[in-house]
This record gives sequence, C-alpha cells and structure tokens, in this order.
Amino acid sequence: MKKMTPVTILAIETSCDETSVAVLRDGTLLSNIVSSQLVHDTYGGVVPELASRAHQKLMIPIVNEALGKAGISPADITAIGGVYGPGLMGSLLVGLNFGKAYAYALNVPFVGVNHMEAHIYSNFITTPSPEFPFLCLTVSGGHTQLVLVRRDFDFEIIGETRDDAAGEAFDKVAKMLGLGYPGGPRVDKLAKSGNPAAIRFPRSFLPGDRFGFSFSGIKTSVLYYLRDHRLLNTQIADSLLADICASFQAAVVDVLTEKTLDAAAFLGVQDIAVAGGVSANSGLRTTLTSRAAKRNCRVFVPPFEYCTDNGAMIALTAYRKYLAGYRSALSQTAIPYLSLGEVIEGAAHG
Ligand code: KG4
Ligand code: ZN
Repeated sequence: MKKMTPVTILAIETSCDETSVAVLRDGTLLSNIVSSQLVHDTYGGVVPELASRAHQKLMIPIVNEALGKAGISPADITAIGGVYGPGLMGSLLVGLNFGKAYAYALNVPFVGVNHMEAHIYSNFITTPSPEFPFLCLTVSGGHTQLVLVRRDFDFEIIGETRDDAAGEAFDKVAKMLGLGYPGGPRVDKLAKSGNPAAIRFPRSFLPGDRFGFSFSGIKTSVLYYLRDHRLLNTQIADSLLADICASFQAAVVDVLTEKTLDAAAFLGVQDIAVAGGVSANSGLRTTLTSRAAKRNCRVFVPPFEYCTDNGAMIALTAYRKYLAGYRSALSQTAIPYLSLGEVIEGAAHG
C-alpha cells in the first residue's frame, strides 16, 4: 500500500507582542515556541514600533528553534501558515512577509489565518474539543466576543464589547494598582488570596444590549474607589490589594459568565468554548464551568499555553484551512482591523 505523505505546517504568529512559531504534522503539534517580548514592561503597555523590531530580531531564531524541536527540516514543510490580521500593522507585516517569502522560497502554499478565528480553533489543539454548533466566548486584550460557530469557518458574532475588551480592563486596572504589564495574570494571582465580596463593583448587564459587553464603567469604578480611599499612587497593603483584585475580577467574571450562559440558552447550544488570553483566568474557568454544569452545558477551555497568543493555534487553523482547500495569494496584505469571517482579499480558494 502506498504510504501517504504527511501534511506538515509551519505557522507564524506575530499579531501583537508575542513572536511564536509552531510545527504541526497531520494535526499533531510537534513544536510551539513562544517568545514574549519583555521590552514593553517598562512602558506599561505594548509599544508598536518596539514590537515590530523585536519580531524582526526573533523571527529567524524562533523558526529555527521550532524546526529543531520538531525534528524536521525546511524540505519537510507542506505549507506555511501565517496570521494576517487583526493586530498591530507593523507586527503583522513582519510575520506575514517572512511567511510569504519562506513559502515562495520553499515553493509551498501560504495559508493566511485570521487571529480571532485561530483563538477559537485553539480549542481543537487538544481533546476533548467542542462539537458543532457551539458558542465561543473570545476574551483577549483586544476583543470580547460571543461567536456562534455553526461548522468549520462558519462564524456569526452574537455580541461584542462596545468599549474596552475584558483583557484591556484587566490591564488598565493592574496599571492603576501599580502591578505592571501585562496585568491580567497578576490580578488573577492576587485575586486568589482576596475576598471577592469585599467591594461591590458594578456589573454592566446592558439591558438594551442582551449579548453586548461594556467594561469601561467598572474600570472607572476602580479608579474612583482608589481616589476616594486615597490609594492612588500609593503602596497598597497586600490584603487590601488582594481584595480589590478579587472584587474586580468577580465583577468581570460574573458578567462574562451570565451573558455567555444566556446566549447559549437563547441559541440552544450545549457546548461552550472559551478562547483568548483572558480564558487563562482562573476565576473565569471555575465560575463558568460550575455555573454551566447546572444548566447542562459543557465548557471547553484550552490548556493555559494555548490561551494567550501562540503559533500552535495558527498552525491548527492553517492545517484545517489547507485540508479544506484554502490557499492565500502572495499578494495577501496585513489587515489590522480584519473581522471574523471576513472574505480574504487577494486569496484564492481551491
Ligand atoms: O489573546 P491575548 O494573548 O492577546 C490578544 O490577542 O489580545 O490576550 C492578552 C490579554 C491581556 O490583556 C492579558 O492581561 C490577558 O489576556 N490575560 C489575562 C490572564 N492571562 C492573560 N487576564 C486575566 N487573567 C489571566 N490569567
Ligand atoms: Zn490574541
């Protein structure tokens, strides 16, 4: 019997401040190298120009590391996958141009991937994974969306944030508390030893926008709390800091959980996936999972390393797109405001 040639994808993620390259063979991950750029910590947020310069410096060493760890040579690559939006223009351009040039040099196809789509597909890197149709709560530094995924590459945005993304709110509150950047993981860690009922921060349920979100109000409430208690720009006692983090996190998690469960009931879906950096949040994981169980819904959250930006999710998405016949033209440009399910400009299908 003739042996099937394996499909080996090398995929690149450079949409923001993570330079990541992964190698996937026939759906199995062989390597996933993620380099988080530390340079931004000093500035309390991502500095776009510094991000693209760091991507340039890291690109080739990380590709070589990913190939080495996977134990493959460039000649084994079937196709290159790469993110082309949404994200920071300069950052996207570095990875996309490298990916296209590499594909051209190796004479293999290039498969462009939407970063938000890839976050959803991070739920398929390991098993068990959700069954179609399912609802995905995508919560990252730039987005908060409830997406109905009917089948492969068939997405409908049911609701999204009208102002700050959930991750952005975590990062801004962390900054107010002097916790540095990125703030989400630090707030999460401190919240574990705090009392979530210590301070009652508001929950924005937006009666007129059933599946929409708003996180700018809670951010302002934390600011007013700090101002009224003369805590701005001061050293806050450890136990109070933990209580503020726990109370803020509880308010955000409450809204995310209730709106997600309401949408799942409304749509009649039982499987709920969570994706994006904030899906690493321990409060969201436990609260959503326990409340969903009471309503007979199953919750899927990727392992921690696939929640924040990573090449593995780009590789998995590129693999599925490759099998479905998607190929991108080498004229594919970076699209910073690309939305989910948007038709790919300059790409050929088939
Ligand atoms: O998906 P991601 O890596 O990048 C974007 O596409 O935005 O998400 C990054 C966001 C940041 O805002 C970060 O603070 C947040 O995810 N984040 C967390 C946690 N880990 C990362 N937020 C809350 N709790 C966490 N454990
Ligand atoms: Zn992301």
